[in-house]
Amino acid sequence: MCGIIGYCGVGPAFPYLFEGLKKLEYRGYDSAGVEVGGRVIKRAGSVDGLKNAETAGLAGRCGIGHTRWATHGAPSAVNAHPESSGPVHLVHNGMLENYAVLRAELPGRYPFVSDTDTESAAHCIRAGIDGGESLLAATWRAADRLKGSFAFLVTSDLEPETICGIRRNSPLVVGTGERGVFLASDIAAIAEHCEEIFSLDNEESVLVRPDGPRFFGPDRREIRKASIRFDKNYEKVGFEGYSCFMEKEIHEVGEGFLQTCLGLKNQMKGMPAELFRPKRLLFCGCGTAYHACRLGKKLMERLVRIPCEAVLASEADEEDLPVDGETLCVFVSQSGETADTISALRVCKKLGGRTLAVTNVVQSSLEDLADFTLKTHAGREFAVASTKAYVAQSGFFYLLAEKLAGGLPVSMDLEALKAGMEACVDLSEIRALAGEMKGESYAFFLGRGLDHLTAMEASLKCKEITYIHSEAYAAGELKHGTLALIEPGSRVILFVTQRKWQEKMMNTLSEVRARGARTVLLSPFSDLEDCGADRFIRLPAFPDLYMPLISIVPCQSLAFRLSRERGIDCDKPRNLAKSVTVE
Ligand code: AGP
Repeated sequence: MCGIIGYCGVGPAFPYLFEGLKKLEYRGYDSAGVEVGGRVIKRAGSVDGLKNAETAGLAGRCGIGHTRWATHGAPSAVNAHPESSGPVHLVHNGMLENYAVLRAELPGRYPFVSDTDTESAAHCIRAGIDGGESLLAATWRAADRLKGSFAFLVTSDLEPETICGIRRNSPLVVGTGERGVFLASDIAAIAEHCEEIFSLDNEESVLVRPDGPRFFGPDRREIRKASIRFDKNYEKVGFEGYSCFMEKEIHEVGEGFLQTCLGLKNQMKGMPAELFRPKRLLFCGCGTAYHACRLGKKLMERLVRIPCEAVLASEADEEDLPVDGETLCVFVSQSGETADTISALRVCKKLGGRTLAVTNVVQSSLEDLADFTLKTHAGREFAVASTKAYVAQSGFFYLLAEKLAGGLPVSMDLEALKAGMEACVDLSEIRALAGEMKGESYAFFLGRGLDHLTAMEASLKCKEITYIHSEAYAAGELKHGTLALIEPGSRVILFVTQRKWQEKMMNTLSEVRARGARTVLLSPFSDLEDCGADRFIRLPAFPDLYMPLISIVPCQSLAFRLSRERGIDCDKPRNLAKSVTVE
């Protein structure tokens, strides 16, 4: 949930730290800070707040930096990292579970100034140094006392031009290049400066000096690590003519879907045949990835007839998960770093399930843990709100259904679907609707069957980047209570893409119109043009089965347009981060 960066080399350090933090902002952006040559500068607000006169004077060759998504302690300068204790400075990605115990145990001579869990770790390390230990030994000792997840970068004024790094359940990579040694939460922040990159495994640590890194295993013995493959241009992505990443990524939905399906077909050919002969299926994810899992479950029930569960990763409890050695457990995660999903994978492994990760990044913790991994090829997704990755994940489930069922009732025309998605990325009716909804504070998204699942994802998009409270509801359920909330002016958006539910959806439309709702109907059926909705949005027509791949796209666009109408930075909405690496 936070981004950490470190540099030690020919310097100056600050430009590399700032550049890296800008690339890590998707992990959190409510406050930021750096330490260079013993000077700590930290601010509430985004990384850009670090560009000022103070940092202009920073000349050191070694430093660490942090961009924060608050877990313990409000977003503020004092709670920003680096957290310091005497000569020790520390940045942290993760969450400590026993920080309060440590806080009580640490001698009173170490006064706490922040409300963070992280500060306990800084004082712990300082206590070791005060006891005569080296920075590395003191960091190891503190790690042994800490419970929870962490990737730390630690410096000490007593050991200049030295950085110690250690990780437990939060990612940490180390890169070497002609300018020196780089450390970061992910490859994205340092790839362009590195010739080699190393990924620390759990409980591994590293000691970095200008002449290079030294790696240590969980037993604290020095080890040699193999470098990992990476793309030096991994991160050279800008808005490319769009106004923001989200707008760019919505326009990439069609290509991302096509490349994903083509890529997955090849990847799945190389997987063991028995993997696709499970007795039971379990799909697991969070947020948008969970919504893709729900779509997957519906497809399996309709096309494959194998018992299938879709489980919220944060609710994966081994006491009630139906997992055994004949269960294929699929973990969907765009980032591959979502802590809840990683924990759920561990639970399913413990129960004997076969684990398959479906991720959209080059390398991730989820991939390291899963028995097998398939990669969507939606392209790097920077905006916090997932758009092209969701459609790519959905494409995976159609291919999985095809694989398990031995075919689909109607073949999936990838090029036609791509074109259909692209036809929906910027509808004039959606722009007009966004203008209408600008000042509204509540919206209902209604659908039946597959359309209910689209409503769930559309509602999440609306909430997370427009801050309009919205609710997805099974349309048939509305009259059993929630209809009480509908009053004159209520915004109700209905999906009608499944012919078999058309009549019943018209009933729902009548029910809400009779109570004064302002209605929008999205449908490929031209005969519904005069159904009486206040606004009818015509979708490209595809077989009902594939309409979820289409109907979500105008909703992604609606959320984007609406966030702009409301003056919100849709790439970095408040309180959120792209990768939720704490539970
Ligand atoms: C989606 O728009 C959200 N940003 C969020 O729900 C996200 O899908 C969820 O946190 C899971 O992330 P992951 O796919 O990287 O695991």
